Amino acid sequence: MSKILVTGGTGYIGSHTVVELMEEGFEVVIIDNLSNSELEVLDGITAITGKEPHFEKVDLRDRELVIKVFEKHPDIQSIIHFAAFKAVGESVDKPLAYYENNLLSLIHLLEAMKQFKIAHLVFSSSCTVYGEPDSLPVDESAPIKKANSPYGNTKQICEEILQDTLESSPELGVISLRYFNPIGAHPSSKIGELPIGVPNNLVPFVTQTAAGIRERLNVFGDNYNTPDGSAVRDYINVVDLARAHIVAIRRLLANKQKTAFEVFNLGTGKGYSVLEIIHAFEKATGQKINFKVVDRREGDVEQVYADTAYANRELGWKAEKGIEETLLSAWNWEKNTRSKKNRS
Ligand code: UD1
Repeated sequence: MSKILVTGGTGYIGSHTVVELMEEGFEVVIIDNLSNSELEVLDGITAITGKEPHFEKVDLRDRELVIKVFEKHPDIQSIIHFAAFKAVGESVDKPLAYYENNLLSLIHLLEAMKQFKIAHLVFSSSCTVYGEPDSLPVDESAPIKKANSPYGNTKQICEEILQDTLESSPELGVISLRYFNPIGAHPSSKIGELPIGVPNNLVPFVTQTAAGIRERLNVFGDNYNTPDGSAVRDYINVVDLARAHIVAIRRLLANKQKTAFEVFNLGTGKGYSVLEIIHAFEKATGQKINFKVVDRREGDVEQVYADTAYANRELGWKAEKGIEETLLSAWNWEKNTRSKKNRS
């Protein structure tokens, strides 16, 4: 069975993808520097799958160490590259750290791919590349808008680096997956999202408010041009999202790509407002959320949700889990998670 390198494999989406890969029989090598994840995630992965992934604690900015991983595992066939900084607000404060980490990591991987003759890469991209879309739902041909944060810009630049690299390396195949808003946790509650410090994202903030770790959820704006005035997103279950990576890897391994660089939206096709998420969470879990409407958050778009037709058709993949089931999984994870130590 193929050996797959998963960078950022102890992170939120990475760990769920590692589980799906291992359950499909792939052998997995994880590279992670644990800058935004914990080693215990490996225990969760092992508890679910009954197997241990290989783990290399390596920072992808360190070219020499990256090369050593490939020397140690010369049979790596494909790469899924999750490892990146991803906090929009932080990227505004520390743009150089974001450019250095997100761009250099990809460059080092591409160099190693050339050296070790690895032909397949799946890249974690984001719907943030569409900015505030002109029309909804947004499909893959929508124009790339000027990024509203250095984080978003790193995703755009990485996609450009990939396309430029493919021009001179016809042996390579790349699939860029543009995620909408991944939420929820594995149904076993053994892995899930583990934000360090105060969460930036909506659903971890909701679950921590329900758990009493946060006193109140701030709803950022109720004067958008949406049905209830709060902003609308396409929330996709993280296990559905993880499964799309298996499909993408199989597509690359089977040389089924239509073009060397392919892009797919990974969403559900349905938008939910912030207030709808709160109500769906309350319905699914029986927990009341203490919330208050405050000003809009700078840099937020009004609404974005995916046109999923192309991914559904070409990949034969579809998001299957409903919003309440997904929010309940996030709540179960919140209740079960062992590590509250970073939650201040
Ligand atoms: C954004 C990016 C996404 C990126 C992610 C990384 C867009 C459209 N999406 O997601 O590509 O991967 O950041 O973090 O740019 N909200 C509240 N209260 C809170 C937290 C959030 O009301 O305490 C609202 C936000 O205003 C937003 C929605 O909830 O309307 C979702 O926010 P969040 O979970 O942070 O994700 P995005 O900002 O959509």
